[in-house]
Amino acid sequence: MHEFNNNWLKLRESVDKKSRNIKIIELINKKFNHNNTISIIDLGTGTGSNFNYLKPKLKFYQNWVFTDISLNSMNYFKQNLKLSNKIIKTKFQNFDVIKDLNKIKFKKFDIVTGSAFLDILPKKWFYKFYNLNSKTEIVLFALNYNGDFKFFPKHKYDKNIVNLFNKDQKTDKGIGDKAVGPDCSNLIVNSFEKTHNTYLMNSYWDVVKNYQFQKYFLYFCTKVIENNKIDYSPWLKFRYNCIKQRNSRLILKNTDFLAIKK
Ligand SMILES: C[S@@+](CC[C@H](N)C(=O)[O-])C[C@H]1O[C@@H](n2cnc3c(N)ncnc32)[C@H](O)[C@@H]1O
Repeated sequence: MHEFNNNWLKLRESVDKKSRNIKIIELINKKFNHNNTISIIDLGTGTGSNFNYLKPKLKFYQNWVFTDISLNSMNYFKQNLKLSNKIIKTKFQNFDVIKDLNKIKFKKFDIVTGSAFLDILPKKWFYKFYNLNSKTEIVLFALNYNGDFKFFPKHKYDKNIVNLFNKDQKTDKGIGDKAVGPDCSNLIVNSFEKTHNTYLMNSYWDVVKNYQFQKYFLYFCTKVIENNKIDYSPWLKFRYNCIKQRNSRLILKNTDFLAIKK
């Protein structure tokens, strides 16, 4: 399994929070207008970013189940968990959501959700997931990378790097099968549109002053470049220099997916 660094996940959290599409929340609150309490399962919880975002915005009392294969991230989240009077119950499950998906009793949940999770999954997961969730009231997957990012100022190698990055996104991310990468939004919409009203909304990162975040993202690009035979060091040098001079901006295109049972 590819382990996600907890520092990176925490660094992402403030950027993700600003990027997510608020219309999704309005639709969910409207859907459960008559409910007092709802039950939610979060897939690939990591350090809890999805919970931290949704908890104050959902109007209802909430029961949450958190699932992640990484004990390290789950423990980090447990230690930093902040409850509120809206949260009735929480449960942590150290669990493989790919291999053991059919062990989850999805019927028990009003909302099945995840964030920054869909793109690392294999194609066959989507069919399996849909079959288990064709009756689920709300399915929400936020922050699905859609295959494009741009740094400013521009550089002649920008497009080449995006192509390399996307190619890498479709490799096996330590799960024993190729990840779907930027195809994830289309795959999830195609799966749910028969039985649900589906929505795909933009949730772009637009990072201007957070240079630590930009540096971290450049580090991922460096790793991808290292696996390639072409020398892109001029691009990296240029990018790190822009950051050093506080003249760098990163826009990365994500989508938020919502399905509401018809
Ligand atoms: C990019 S992180 C996103 C974490 C969090 N949802 C967020 O928005 O910050 C992906 C998460 O999926 C988890 N993950 C990867 N493979 C998994 C699997 N097979 N079963 C459960 N969780 C998995 C990772 O451990 C990681 O915490």
